[in-house]
Amino acid sequence: CGIIGYAGKNPAVLVLLEGLERLEYRGYDSAGVALIENGRIFVEKKVGKIRELIRSLWGKPLKATVGIGHTRWATHGEPCEINAHPHTDSTGEIAVVHNGIIENYRELKEKLQAQGIQFKSQTDTEVIAHLISLYYQGDLLEAVIKVVPELKGSYAFCVITNREPYRIVGVRYGNPLVVGIGDGENFMASDIPALLPFTRHIIPLSDGEIVDLRIDSVDIYDAEGNRIVKEAINVPWDIISAERGGFKHFMLKEIFEQPRTVGDTIKGYVSRDYLLPFNLRDFRRILILACGTSYHAGLVGSYWMNKYLQTPVEVMYASEFRYADVPVGERDLVIAISQSGETADTRYSALSAKEKGATVLSLVNVMGSALDRESDYTLYTHAGPEIGVAATKTFTSQLAVLYSLAVSHLPDRDRFMEKLSSVPHMMEEVLGEAEQIKKVALKYANRKNMLYLGRYLSYPVALEGALKLKEISYIHAEGYPAGEMKHGPIALIDENMPVLVVVPRDRVYEKVLSNIEEVLTRRGSVISVGFRDDETLTKVSKDLIGVPEVDEDLTPFLTVIPLQLFAYYIADHLGLDVDQPRNLAKTVTVE
Ligand code: G6P
Repeated sequence: CGIIGYAGKNPAVLVLLEGLERLEYRGYDSAGVALIENGRIFVEKKVGKIRELIRSLWGKPLKATVGIGHTRWATHGEPCEINAHPHTDSTGEIAVVHNGIIENYRELKEKLQAQGIQFKSQTDTEVIAHLISLYYQGDLLEAVIKVVPELKGSYAFCVITNREPYRIVGVRYGNPLVVGIGDGENFMASDIPALLPFTRHIIPLSDGEIVDLRIDSVDIYDAEGNRIVKEAINVPWDIISAERGGFKHFMLKEIFEQPRTVGDTIKGYVSRDYLLPFNLRDFRRILILACGTSYHAGLVGSYWMNKYLQTPVEVMYASEFRYADVPVGERDLVIAISQSGETADTRYSALSAKEKGATVLSLVNVMGSALDRESDYTLYTHAGPEIGVAATKTFTSQLAVLYSLAVSHLPDRDRFMEKLSSVPHMMEEVLGEAEQIKKVALKYANRKNMLYLGRYLSYPVALEGALKLKEISYIHAEGYPAGEMKHGPIALIDENMPVLVVVPRDRVYEKVLSNIEEVLTRRGSVISVGFRDDETLTKVSKDLIGVPEVDEDLTPFLTVIPLQLFAYYIADHLGLDVDQPRNLAKTVTVE
């Protein structure tokens, strides 16, 4: 979920809606605002995207200059108007927006119900509104300071009351909240980009901090209510780079940006300046933790690291690691990979590894994000803001950093980095084939299922391709190691099952050709992504998408692009919401 608050001299509703649109990547099941309008709390909420909320507010003469807003990714309670935020107490004089989970909300709800308080929604958030109301004795900050110790979980929230119409109180406890300082106006929001149209002076809050934000002042307190002095930072982020630049969708723009973003990332790692103050080989083991696309990048990285570092490398879904009793200690290096740096599963698993003595190195795209701040060391992916919910350019930038790390200790490292530097140019060539890729993709747009196969470095690429197709086209796609197909998924193959095989000419090329034969024997049709001059592959494939020939190590940079485009063109052809697919959120800040 995304939250925002504004207190100033301008109509709050305009600021809140613009900020919410920038926070929409955090969820878009429903959205709402609460404003202090003529001495009362005015609430408007709508199911669906921010544009639904904008439509319903259109033409309403709202003059309030203080308010809070929310865009939701449903956890507790289905996405409907009642469960949408803001939530109010029984008097309707206190309104709350919240991101995260209150783990003990059932217990609190029962306690409140026993006192005769009626609940309107199924959310965990509503307990916050009622609790604040219960403790409120004329000072909102004081009430919040009393409520916070009662709440268990990980959360951030903002609260307003019409009894103190000039003030918003915000709390950060596990989930992000930043404060923006303006001139006669102040802001708070879940992330920095949401505030960039208004101000670049930002104070990121730390866990346990509470902000008392007014039209002309910002005061920050610790959980006990002691005042803390914090300096604002100046953020140099260019918001223009978050616009679509002529492309139909952000996702398409971001796919096409990859030669530049990978180039930018490589630039950051070509010189030895970035080098870490330790040698990766000094660790007993490297454990890579991540979710979604970042996990797939981690898998590719693990093949490179096993090859060049010869240190045992394991990759785990962060959500699995957390509760899996994995022995971790001082001699382990944990590499936590996250585009946003805010994914709860990744953050918490990195924190627990750190507590057990491991060194945590994070790979993030968003500077100043929670994971960035919580890790021992951070490396950035320099891909710029990624808006499309389905990750594309951050995947290839993550690959660039992981490759640089894997070869960092080699005596001929420069030679490897030189090879890596030739990748952006080759990515351009692949993008030059977009029209042909589109033609191939559209032939499969009406299929219900697809199998994606790959082996060695192409296995994670196949997983990533299948994930892209699922996420944005809602076509069921399964990624599988090509060599494992015969142990199960082969049963699925018949003339109705298209099989997309990632098969560059690498060490397992011949093996994967045999897997293709196994598919053909069972009347499956094969779409292959391989080197463009590959005649053998042309003969066995119904469709071949060719990429330039490249060293086997670097094949994932090129082969993933056709898979991104394949998913994109199908989803767009089906008329789906490519940048904001149903049920997903770009950043999932709950476990
Ligand atoms: C969400 C997104 C995925 C993303 C994953 C990990 O589920 O929908 O696209 O890969 O989170 O995100 P992170 O920011 O940690 O890389």
